[in-house]
Amino acid sequence: MMSSHRRPPHIISFSDDPESVGKDGEFGDPPLPIFGWKQFEPNIRNRGFDWPENAFSMIGAARMRNFRVLTERVISGSVPGDIVETGVWRGGASILARAVLAAYGVQDRRVILADSFEGLPPPDKDRYPADEGSIFHEYSELAVSEDKVRSNFEKFRLFDDQVVLLNGWFKNTMPLVPSNRIAIPPLIVPPTPTDRERLTTARTSL
Ligand SMILES: C[S@@+](CC[C@H](N)C(=O)[O-])C[C@H]1O[C@@H](n2cnc3c(N)ncnc32)[C@H](O)[C@@H]1O
Repeated sequence: MMSSHRRPPHIISFSDDPESVGKDGEFGDPPLPIFGWKQFEPNIRNRGFDWPENAFSMIGAARMRNFRVLTERVISGSVPGDIVETGVWRGGASILARAVLAAYGVQDRRVILADSFEGLPPPDKDRYPADEGSIFHEYSELAVSEDKVRSNFEKFRLFDDQVVLLNGWFKNTMPLVPSNRIAIPPLIVPPTPTDRERLTTARTSL
């Protein structure tokens, strides 16, 4: 049983450090200094516009809530299948999905996390001319290792055989997603040069 004196860390706003829960940074995990945001703004974080310094996800509270509702609907509506996230960063959204499965005692669904675990590939301007000039692949902040994602799950005691890490570029891994049925297909993150590739290869593999 979990000890009652300390809650697990929060996915969106709390610091990555469980010790900091309840201290100054409780709802104030600052943004990484990338897009000009200098301090924590609830409205920005809610909409997932900044990249938090410590929190486990960058999708923001609104989309995280939506994802929770969708996961619950899949469970209550008996929609069969696994949940796949393409582009997991620190793992927060998938941690939430695994937590929802655990909360409802679901043991016959897995959460599959597809990522390079090294950030984005450079844009392929020949196939996707509109992506020319994109520099997302230069952001080392987007490269979160498989070990780090696993250890983030372990902070919530949620890493088990219902969690599958699928390491590689989407164009290689999407046709091989180890699932016969997908209840919630790849999450859409803010547009990046590889979004189209991710979604189209996933669709053709379903
Ligand atoms: C915007 S972040 C994802 C945010 C995440 N959904 C969250 O909850 O915070 C994008 C992620 O996609 C991964 N990624 C982007 N393009 C990729 C590709 N073509 N193949 C594999 N991984 C990719 C990056 O490594 C990064 O972890």
